[in-house]
Amino acid sequence: MTTAIEINNMEYSWPGQSTPLLKIADFQVERGESLLLQGKSGCGKTTLLSLLAGINTVDRGELKILGKEPKTMKPVDRDRFRGDKIGFIFQQFNLIPYLTVTENITAPFLFSKDSSIKADHKELKDRAAELLTHLDLKIDPEKRVTELSIGQQQRVAAARALITAPELIIADEPTSALDDDSADAFLKLLFRETEKLGSTLVVVSHNRALESSFPRVVKMEEINV
Ligand SMILES: Nc1ncnc2c1ncn2[C@@H]1O[C@H](COP(=O)(O)OP(=O)(O)OP(=O)(O)O)[C@@H](O)[C@H]1O
Ligand SMILES: [Mg+2]
Repeated sequence: MTTAIEINNMEYSWPGQSTPLLKIADFQVERGESLLLQGKSGCGKTTLLSLLAGINTVDRGELKILGKEPKTMKPVDRDRFRGDKIGFIFQQFNLIPYLTVTENITAPFLFSKDSSIKADHKELKDRAAELLTHLDLKIDPEKRVTELSIGQQQRVAAARALITAPELIIADEPTSALDDDSADAFLKLLFRETEKLGSTLVVVSHNRALESSFPRVVKMEEINV
């Protein structure tokens, strides 16, 4: 099994849309690939990522993630699959405001029922601290996330996505709140972690400066007809 993402004649519409927002005939991403996805605002990038993560499911056609078809799974199995295999850095972060930095980063373990990814508390805290260091976040891990700057919150969201050592890492505009130097450092971390884990990386970004860092760049208009 070498394909991470496999799409064949897939269609997706939001409720009420008369023509499909997404209509993708043929698109593959191999395991271990790092891919940058580009496209103008509103063209459906975040929607496509939500399908890759099994947050939403396709209306027609085939979409396989790591060999599985989310559409055929029960919602509870889909959630577990996502929790175990996919690290998602959301465009809007989706941090839990009343929890601390450490609690947010380790949250995927709190909600997982899979004992194989349950680690002991100390080990988790250490791993969270290590990710904070790698992300150049010199913050008190016991602070609530609402007390952080937006750029700091974005990196906490990245740490949360990476802590489970996911097979597929999906990042939606992960550098939008970062200055150029931080964006560059962040991207380096993302590549390093991805390589270390042997994971597949899909990044959506408007930032043209990121292009040269990716071995493969795909434009939405090339795949979405
Ligand atoms: N939850 C939703 N319910 C209904 N329509 C939605 C929903 N989310 C997005 N859409 C619609 O789908 C289209 C694509 O939105 P999407 O968020 O995927 O775009 P995008 O390419 O990520 O844009 P941006 O670059 O601004 O983030 C838009 O027309 C939007 O109105
Ligand atoms: Mg978007």
